[in-house]
Amino acid sequence: MERLQKIIAHAGVTSRRKAEKMITDGRVKVDGAIVTELGTQVSGKERIEVDDVPIYKEEPVYYLFYKPRGVICAVSDNKNRAVVTDYFTQIPERIYPVGRLDYDASGLLIMTNDGEFAQKLAHPKHEVDKVYVAKVIGVATKEKLSPLTKKMHIKGETFSPAKYAILSTDKKSQTSIVELTIHEGHNHQVKKMLESVELPVQKLKREKYGILTLGNLHSGEYRPLTKKEVSQLLVGIKD
Ligand code: URA
Repeated sequence: MERLQKIIAHAGVTSRRKAEKMITDGRVKVDGAIVTELGTQVSGKERIEVDDVPIYKEEPVYYLFYKPRGVICAVSDNKNRAVVTDYFTQIPERIYPVGRLDYDASGLLIMTNDGEFAQKLAHPKHEVDKVYVAKVIGVATKEKLSPLTKKMHIKGETFSPAKYAILSTDKKSQTSIVELTIHEGHNHQVKKMLESVELPVQKLKREKYGILTLGNLHSGEYRPLTKKEVSQLLVGIKD
């Protein structure tokens, strides 16, 4: 028998100390019942859930998903809107997205049931490049976009320098296609950065995540990641 907080910490959900707080906050269920007592002993055979997500003894699985626009990056939605897991009904494991893509954004999303992997990838020290392609309102120029290559302070948030490329501009429709490479994952970061240089985003797609690209996938399709891809994604991360 083990202490509940130890099992949670070992499943990679969080640290032992934070696991204790999760328990006392009533976020942990053992076989369907909320447990708030810290000393609780478990054998490891029980179904243990944190915020209704099981900490698994399942085999870890990893998928690359082409998230369509108009789908929520969550496992459920209280307004019954489409969520990313709706596309994985054939997958028995309880998977969830790594990080977020906005409801109105499309593109590359990693899905997994491996909490430790998800936590590592989402950590700010994990500086993996993410490449976005945005359709913006306005004619993009080097002058307009150059502030993005320096550290930016926007409404109390700080964003690291980004790389950009102007893929096309259309003077007639007054729109442009811009590629932006960032390594952070602040909420609405690309939209905020482009808005700040007066190029508001009309459409947004994530094309790359580190070594991963969408390849031949169509919107709404997914494929498993290879073992090599999973380990490559973790390169450079210290425990
Ligand atoms: N930046 C955004 O503005 N939205 C996303 O979904 C991802 C990055």
